[in-house]
Amino acid sequence: MTEKRCAIAIDGPSGAGKSTIAKAVAARRGYIYVDTGAIYRTVGLAARRGSVDPHDAAGVAALLPGLDIRFDYGPDGSQRMYLNGEDVSAAIRTPEASMYASAVSAIPAVRAFLLDMQRDAAKTHSVVMDGRDIGTVVLPQAGLKIFLTASLEARAKRRLAELTAKGDPSTLADVITDMTRRDEQDTSRAAAPLKAAADAVVVDTSDMTLPQSIQAVCDLAEERFGRTEP
Ligand code: DC
Repeated sequence: MTEKRCAIAIDGPSGAGKSTIAKAVAARRGYIYVDTGAIYRTVGLAARRGSVDPHDAAGVAALLPGLDIRFDYGPDGSQRMYLNGEDVSAAIRTPEASMYASAVSAIPAVRAFLLDMQRDAAKTHSVVMDGRDIGTVVLPQAGLKIFLTASLEARAKRRLAELTAKGDPSTLADVITDMTRRDEQDTSRAAAPLKAAADAVVVDTSDMTLPQSIQAVCDLAEERFGRTEP
């Protein structure tokens, strides 16, 4: 008997709370969490380290055959990324790495290179997968699609708190500038731009606390797939 796999796709702009919420929902339902942004970040880091301009489509495409990108999960359930065997989970989290990720993610060859890796994860497990094109391109058959959003101000404040906690000296103005640029780049690109799938449920977390946001997504999952064992 084959077990039924469930897939929850969560898309939205940066700072909407996707990864924190997706991770919590996955833990509650016993699904794996796949952070696809981390995979794009790893390609961005490879470009940075190879001194390749991340907007140079041919240059970045030429790097791809030499990249061995894998991920696994740490004891606390966090996703760890490996680039050619090296754990780069921390190195991909800087503001510079965010800009590189956004730039390389606009290159169709990069998106094609990463597609199967993302789809394979959903073949073997029930997943909560977050990104920009999960409901539209990666898992168009996902049983539940959520477009998670929040105002620019709310998103920037949350991102700033994360960066400050890590000792990053960015200011709110820096974060707003970076976020506006990245939103613009992610929504205006030709290849798989950030947009809500036609059948996505839009969840605006601007005025919700984190526990409320997690509960809202869990409620939607329960409506769609039923309860999980406690
Ligand atoms: O979610 P994040 O901030 O870690 O993502 C980093 C960049 O990767 C983001 O600016 C856009 C890109 N991305 C993408 O194009 N498609 C995805 N499914 C996930 C991320």
